[in-house]
Amino acid sequence: MVDQDTKQRAEQMASRDEFPIKGFSHLEWWVGNAYQSAQYLRTMFGFRIIGYRGPETGTMDASSYLLAQEDIRFVVSGALAPDHAITQHVAVHGPGVHDVALAVPDAEAAFELAVNRGAEPAYKPHVVESDRGHKVMAGLKAYGETIHSLVEGEGELPDFEPMNDEFARPLGLRHIDHVVANVELHGMDEWVEWYERIFGFTLLRHFDDEAISTEYSALMSKVVWDGSGIIKLPINEPAEGRKRSQIEEYMMFYRGAGVQHIAMATDDLQTTVEDATGRGLEFLRVPDDYYDELPQRIPDLDADIARLGKLKILADSDEGGHLLQIFTRMLQDRPTVFFEFIERRGATGFGEGNFKALFEAIEREQDRRGNL
Ligand code: FE2
Repeated sequence: MVDQDTKQRAEQMASRDEFPIKGFSHLEWWVGNAYQSAQYLRTMFGFRIIGYRGPETGTMDASSYLLAQEDIRFVVSGALAPDHAITQHVAVHGPGVHDVALAVPDAEAAFELAVNRGAEPAYKPHVVESDRGHKVMAGLKAYGETIHSLVEGEGELPDFEPMNDEFARPLGLRHIDHVVANVELHGMDEWVEWYERIFGFTLLRHFDDEAISTEYSALMSKVVWDGSGIIKLPINEPAEGRKRSQIEEYMMFYRGAGVQHIAMATDDLQTTVEDATGRGLEFLRVPDDYYDELPQRIPDLDADIARLGKLKILADSDEGGHLLQIFTRMLQDRPTVFFEFIERRGATGFGEGNFKALFEAIEREQDRRGNL
């Protein structure tokens, strides 16, 4: 039963036509081996392991690590039994992002309002607490098997036992810039409408298959946001190309809709990429002729083109300014989830001008897997 007080707070939120979101709380990955995934994120991407939850701390059926870099928090979880929800999820989707958790000032009221607006509950509000803190969490079902937890409370997740990780070397990743969903054909507008209806988000940008297409594939993308820029969620759906699009390939291997990439912001992408490359991190290949064209495409770009070319960094410009970006190779065996690093120099876009160059690069890889 929802108490009167929660109902009232939800009604107040609704009457003010607001759904206050403070930012991303954390992203939870469901994987086959949490220990190794945490170590990979630590050594390759510079995350500190700051917390652990598992049998030693009273959670008998799963192990989770809490990772941090500046404002970014990842939880990486793996199950210890074959019938666990995580095991099933990994069997179907492979390793992936299960929860794009949002920080809210009032999780109970936010949950109540979202459900009133037609969102499907993933789990009901409950308190997570220890002597280290107190949080209220509730969950909503989103695209595919992905959920949005609503997380209220200050500080780190209190059910993780703190760990001291003084040897991790940060890569300069500061915050999550955007989280991209791939959804089924004709699902994009449905999910845009869902974010508008449930969270009061609005449409920030829209790219159609004219803008983002190559000889072989195309995608449609709409970006919803909270209006402040803290939460930006592009939603892709496949558009008909001549052969199988990368979104279709994702859907085939993820077995449904899910998170495609997570973009993390850095103040100095060239240094970040040099550091990451030195650790053995692999990025998406970019055709050399991309850099021959770059000076004409962005004449006032403040960067050494040869250095960008060596690092395979992409550049784009829009009405607000420039941006630099780069995409990692797939993070797992299945061609599903990857990271983007982005340095914004005033640009508010997502690298639309790069999509064609990027697609051509992606397709070369897809072709090598025999899926084009
Ligand atoms: Fe992106």
